[in-house]
Amino acid sequence: MTGDFEASYGAAPQASAQAPGRVNLLGEHTDYNDGYVLPIAITQQTRVAMRRNGGSHFALHAQELDQAVRFTLEQPPAEHFASYVYGCLKLAGEQGAPVPPLDIHVASDVPMGVGLSSSAALEVATLRCLRQLLDLQLDDVAIAQLAQRAEIEFAGVRCGIMDQMASSLAGTDKALLLDTRSLERRLVALPEGSAVLVLDSGIARSLAASGYNERRSQCEQAAQLLGVKSLRDVDDLRRLDALPDLLRRRARHVLTENSRVLAAVDCGSAQDFGLLMDASHASLRDDYEVSTPGLDLLVELLQAQDAVFGARLTGAGFGGACVALCQTDALRDVAAAVLHEYRQAGGEGRQLVPPLVALGG
Ligand code: GLA
Repeated sequence: MTGDFEASYGAAPQASAQAPGRVNLLGEHTDYNDGYVLPIAITQQTRVAMRRNGGSHFALHAQELDQAVRFTLEQPPAEHFASYVYGCLKLAGEQGAPVPPLDIHVASDVPMGVGLSSSAALEVATLRCLRQLLDLQLDDVAIAQLAQRAEIEFAGVRCGIMDQMASSLAGTDKALLLDTRSLERRLVALPEGSAVLVLDSGIARSLAASGYNERRSQCEQAAQLLGVKSLRDVDDLRRLDALPDLLRRRARHVLTENSRVLAAVDCGSAQDFGLLMDASHASLRDDYEVSTPGLDLLVELLQAQDAVFGARLTGAGFGGACVALCQTDALRDVAAAVLHEYRQAGGEGRQLVPPLVALGG
């Protein structure tokens, strides 16, 4: 990383930090309804390095995208990837210390655009780096909250707080049970003998931003019609009968998904955990309508494997990745068999977690 920064800017960085992507095991589209989520960090990380450049402009180089951008805080960059970094710089500037023009280098092996939170990893790594460089008094929760604001205010996605909390606070060996209303959280071990497998469906998430914001508005509408602050406050499914059909189904997904998260952390068995994942997928497909035929196929192929306890789409949906809970010793064989069958059916998938390529230092 230091070498990469030096290659771009000809000097060593003054600060560097990293943050992981995440995969969500259960609790999809619940965070912006004040509900429960259960993500786990992945080993892939985004690394950010910085140095004061003494000039008038910020310089940003994103290694994997092979893009270099120059901007000032008054003149935001037009490039979408740079808006995440720009948002973090603007928000860090509100924390007291002015942010001086910097040379910034970003390197990442977090898969992009598949639902593994490459944007949260970029935001959290950027803010961690700024915390170090400018000695900002921010704890890890405050970092996650600023990162979420960067995404909403500067990248235009009205996301919840799950991804940024996961990137800032989760580890790779235990899942993070998070109450997104109180931010109370605890780490939860995966069921004995099980491990996480993530496969990319190869389907681009074309409707993700518009479909996501639309789902969020529908949940807000449903909460308003029910006279509650958020769907988290509805404790009886029967209350949903008062809603028009579409809103009733959206809200039913949210309520049942919250119950599934809470059931999963108490169930203790991989089989029961897996059944909850299967049910989550059905709910995302039928009630929330964020799946696609390709995701459904990949999930079905995963679920048909004896060594798979359960599988579902993960992240916002509309394409991207699927997650499965799998017998630890069968990961490799399951991935190979499912990807083979998926290819025969015309799909083009790949294994994302565990990563096939060993991480660079
Ligand atoms: C995206 C958002 C999260 C969450 C998920 C769906 O990843 O950034 O806040 O809403 O979608 O669960």
